[in-house]
Amino acid sequence: MTKVPLVDLHLQHEILADDIEAAIKEVIASGAFIGTAANPFVKKFEHEFASFSQAEHCVGCANGTDAIELALRALEIGPGDEVIVPARTWVSTAESVVLVGATPVFVDSCPTDHTIDPDLIPPAITSRTKAIIPVHLYGQPARMDAICSIAKKHNLYVVEDCAQSHGATFKGKPIGTFGDAGTFSFFPGKNLGALGDAGCIITNNQSIATKTKRISDHGRSGKADHDLIGRNSRLDGIQASILSAKLKHLPEWNKTRQQIAANYISQLQDLPIDLPKIGEEASHVFHLFVIESDDRDTLRQSLSDKGIATGIHYPKPLPHLSVFDSSNEYPVASRQANRVLSLPIYPYMPDQIQQHVIESLKAAFTPSP
Ligand SMILES: Cc1ncc(COP(=O)(O)O)c(C=O)c1O
Repeated sequence: MTKVPLVDLHLQHEILADDIEAAIKEVIASGAFIGTAANPFVKKFEHEFASFSQAEHCVGCANGTDAIELALRALEIGPGDEVIVPARTWVSTAESVVLVGATPVFVDSCPTDHTIDPDLIPPAITSRTKAIIPVHLYGQPARMDAICSIAKKHNLYVVEDCAQSHGATFKGKPIGTFGDAGTFSFFPGKNLGALGDAGCIITNNQSIATKTKRISDHGRSGKADHDLIGRNSRLDGIQASILSAKLKHLPEWNKTRQQIAANYISQLQDLPIDLPKIGEEASHVFHLFVIESDDRDTLRQSLSDKGIATGIHYPKPLPHLSVFDSSNEYPVASRQANRVLSLPIYPYMPDQIQQHVIESLKAAFTPSP
């Protein structure tokens, strides 16, 4: 039986093996392993990713969770403050709010596109609200025009969680550049992934760039000068040079994801499932291809019987995880959590593998004779 993984990173790594090995060897020869301010590999990647994102600054850090935390710390958000986050996202979005001592306030999702529902943000704002963290979930840009105008009206910061949306745009503008800062994860399976943990913050604000850099390097302002309490969350030389080697391929990889998604959408449209709806004026980069079905678990089992791996991103709204334990209702997020199913999608996914997924889904809805 053909085994189909949800994501296959071997294919991109086989193609890039020589470039990646050369990049690693160069760092080993130079000895520039740690991402302190002078590390040339980190500086090079930061420069390249800022330019790719059309942002003035990029600050590398250890992972995407830290990236959010560093941005919030740089904005001096802390105890007593509230931060609005979507009810449906990966735990890091809300976890980082708690890590700085602030309180996450959850807002339900849009029924159509899984991102935060801007109409529900104003009722969640209180005198303690300091920021909104929209998440471009699955690669779909959140409605940044509506979100930024709410933020402006209420004098709130916006930190975009771009961990799943490298290269996506909204109204032609790269995500991560709408708010005060954009944060990225380079977890290996992301649209741009390192070979380990890595992340970054992009911003057009010099003060946020300087502060996040400093906090990520023990609050250091000089070789042995520390003028604020920081931590160690540096991007390392090896991951930075691997990311530089991979960044060149990101536009082509995103295009491939969009082609695979378009093929799924055209071939699955007659099935009784809900297919992803791409937001108006948004370019969706399909980190995940997520369908919805009332019979999600049966469908998942029938794909698994054919050797096809699927995912559930995510099985519970965040406020209903025991760590947050809210009794508030999030009807849209709860319905989505019970219905979502992620199908295999990754660059270089062979056509016949995608066809096998499509035929297997169709067969799941065909009554056996
Ligand atoms: C939406 C979102 N935010 C934040 C993160 C955190 O990234 P990392 O795993 O690099 O800490 C992830 C990673 O899965 C994510 O998907």
